[in-house]
Amino acid sequence: MPAVDVQEKNILKICVLGAAGGIGQSLSLLLKSNAGSLLPRDTSTHIRLSLYDVNKDAIVGTTADLSHIDTPITTTAHYPGDDTGGIGQCLSDANLVIIPAGVPRKPGMSRDDLIHVNASILKSLGADIAKYCDLSTVHVLVISNPINSLVPLLASTLVKHDEKGNSRIESRVYGITHLDLVRSSTFVQQLNGFKSNIPPVIPVIGGHSGDTIIPVFSRLQKSPEYANSLDNGMRLKMVHRVQYGGDEIVKAKNGNGSATLSMAYAGFKIASKFIDLLVGNVDTIDDIVMYVSLTDRNNEEIAPGSNILRSDYINNLQYFALPLTISKNGIEEVHYEIMEDLDSYERDTLLPICLQTLKGNIDVGMNLV
Ligand code: NAD
Ligand code: LMR
Repeated sequence: MPAVDVQEKNILKICVLGAAGGIGQSLSLLLKSNAGSLLPRDTSTHIRLSLYDVNKDAIVGTTADLSHIDTPITTTAHYPGDDTGGIGQCLSDANLVIIPAGVPRKPGMSRDDLIHVNASILKSLGADIAKYCDLSTVHVLVISNPINSLVPLLASTLVKHDEKGNSRIESRVYGITHLDLVRSSTFVQQLNGFKSNIPPVIPVIGGHSGDTIIPVFSRLQKSPEYANSLDNGMRLKMVHRVQYGGDEIVKAKNGNGSATLSMAYAGFKIASKFIDLLVGNVDTIDDIVMYVSLTDRNNEEIAPGSNILRSDYINNLQYFALPLTISKNGIEEVHYEIMEDLDSYERDTLLPICLQTLKGNIDVGMNLV
């Protein structure tokens, strides 16, 4: 297998699978227009944006369109059965793979209603990633819903296909739940009339659907600008609004899909952190919240050095969104400490409900592998 280290080959290859869709197009636009500004000034590293979709005309058109933007980032289109090697060519030597492929919700549907269609898409893309990527280096970011079930499904699919058996790929598969953090921050600022120029940072842990979403609003107590933003009644309303924020967009789009622009914004923020890491601007990504596997294939802690409170707080669930430290090798630390900082409402009311629902969601994903 050729070198996939960015510094060694001087190329950072980012693949977007499902790049012709609502999220895929907007995210690819943000990457094409902004990713270059993250490169160190003195670098000779070049970014390649490798875009794949099953919709041939849409991906060819989208890529042609992006290619007219005057940033020095190469864009290539890939689709099944194309002359340039289809998904194999798209994925080979990839450093970062981002997956927004899949069907979005319509009004009246839950994210879980998407499971069968999207599970078969992710299983097939998982087999391709295993075949064409170097599983011991690639990082995979999952956007497709239902995240709670599809991240376990994809991580297990990759482990199953890992022929060498020692890739630790399960420590480099991440579900992007960042839209929930973006929403929490936005809604608090709206309440404050956008009076402060410093947005609040509110970690959101658990999963990414309804009552599995736990916005840790108790954190606001630590920031003087926002400490008194939420009285008890308002806090309940805000928790509900974050948990069901996705429904607001599905309803507003009235049959034309779910969040795309705000998701692309959230996805780009996460992708930027990985670009910083992979091009060597930073050694680790610190305090990023994503939905990940907390144990490896041997049931050992994914981050052995972490202060482990898992069994005390999250019933040995294998997947959960928590603050992480990530290096090029994958998850280095899981910051379970946040569980000790939860207030009684978060710990005794929100957490037990989350755990119950999330357990079922994880089992669904694992059973489909
Ligand atoms: P979309 O229908 O606009 O785009 C999906 C794209 O995936 C389409 O272009 C389609 O052709 C492509 N596709 C389908 N099967 C494929 C395959 N096998 N390989 C490659 N491409 C394939 O949908 P969207 O609005 O972009 O949403 C995509 C997914 O993201 C949905 O499942 C949605 O629920 C999810 N989503 C997640 C979050 C989150 O917070 N994680 C937020 C919003 C949406
Ligand atoms: C969201 O939170 O907006 C996404 O998960 C899309 C959806 O189905 O709500």
